[in-house]
Amino acid sequence: MRKPIIFGNWKMNKTVKEANELISLLKTLVSDIKDVEIGVCPPAIDLQEVVKLTKDSNIKVGAQNMHWEKSGAYTGDISAVMLKELGVEYIIIGHSERREYYNETDQEVNKKVKTAFEHKLKPIICVGESLEERKENKTKDKVKNQIKNALKGLTANQVSQTVIAYEPIWAIGTGESASAKQANQVVSYIRDVVNLDYPEASQKLRIQYGGSVKPHNIEEFMAESDIDGALVGGASLEANSFADIVKNTK
Ligand code: PGA
Repeated sequence: MRKPIIFGNWKMNKTVKEANELISLLKTLVSDIKDVEIGVCPPAIDLQEVVKLTKDSNIKVGAQNMHWEKSGAYTGDISAVMLKELGVEYIIIGHSERREYYNETDQEVNKKVKTAFEHKLKPIICVGESLEERKENKTKDKVKNQIKNALKGLTANQVSQTVIAYEPIWAIGTGESASAKQANQVVSYIRDVVNLDYPEASQKLRIQYGGSVKPHNIEEFMAESDIDGALVGGASLEANSFADIVKNTK
């Protein structure tokens, strides 16, 4: 059985003080939940505070991005070594906003995924199609390419520990989520694609849906056969709504 995994992606929101307030409340709201893996991905500057606050809690911490090199002349970037030393456990790689606004390529995503495993960080790899691609029936081709490139060169054991977030770009931050059936179709297809190269690992790796997940629709997504959790943006910025999503996850 794959354990459900609900992560919040705060994007560029929350100062250290605000992060402290959110986590302090969230911790008490979800403290007795054991059957869902819960995590938050704050901006880099909040990580130290959030790791400290979530110690001895059931909330894991992830970062939103990192460079693939260990160190060097990369102004503005942070490395896996730095994240690991802080006690960060997960790393979001290839979010559509990174791909779109910072021109991140599939090759860079692959380098970051390999670096994550080298430093014992668990990657949450984001994939998904734009509205245009969906209309042109290119969804499957797009995610297949993204998945194949992202997992290139990984061992089966690494693939089994990977989390994939299927996030149709047209559903992110728009309030218009994909229907549960639509999402599950693509998520099942992703598992089939992984199955071609990694049959055993494909049954272990967890695939989230992301895009306008809210407390009222999480149950529908979780009821689908292949969806193992959610990557939540907007609704993770408020402790109560994020806690409600976690509580409604079955
Ligand atoms: P959203 O963002 O929940 O605000 O749509 C999801 C994401 O980008 O991970």
